[in-house]
Amino acid sequence: MKHGLAAMLLALAAGGLAAQEKPAGAALYATHCVACHQADGQGAPGIAPPLAGNLARHAGSGGGRDYLARVPLTGMVGAITVNGVRYTGNMPSFAALSDGEIAAVVAYVLQEFNGTASADWLNAEFVAQVRKQGGTPNDTHRARGRLAAAGS
Ligand code: HEC
Repeated sequence: MKHGLAAMLLALAAGGLAAQEKPAGAALYATHCVACHQADGQGAPGIAPPLAGNLARHAGSGGGRDYLARVPLTGMVGAITVNGVRYTGNMPSFAALSDGEIAAVVAYVLQEFNGTASADWLNAEFVAQVRKQGGTPNDTHRARGRLAAAGS
């Protein structure tokens, strides 16, 4: 009996943690990103590129991970082409968000729209380290150009 209760409490605690993490990223996305990138992450021609199905490749490399944290920190200017569509708008900076908030919203984008199962590396410490490096919206655009398979 005792064992069963402990297991149940553990399961509840784990469920509670998972449930907490998701709404945080979802709520941040709904507040700060949805107007341009849309609820389904598909973006809109002439406004913002899709985030859905477009970012998973970056989660697998050091430079890509750096880029994913950098975009919301610095914002980005300069045209990019995604799935053959050219986007010339500006991505605003969300540097006012905390490191934890940046981590949560990008993790949400990866997990919800790009099928990235685990984004454990994407935490407040990682974002803090990228933030310390500084950089301009133009630098971030150049970083995108250096990433593997960035032509898509
Ligand atoms: C005002 C509209 C707008 C808002 C709000 C916005 N974005 Fe963007 N986002 C853009 C545009 C435009 C680009 C492309 C910028 C460029 O061409 O240099 C972009 C690019 C990106 C990229 C890079 C995509 C790629 O293919 O490399 C990511 C990642 C991203 N945004 C995430 C976010 C997140 C996360 C939020 C919310 C915290 C957000 N954006 C809010 C307009 C927006």
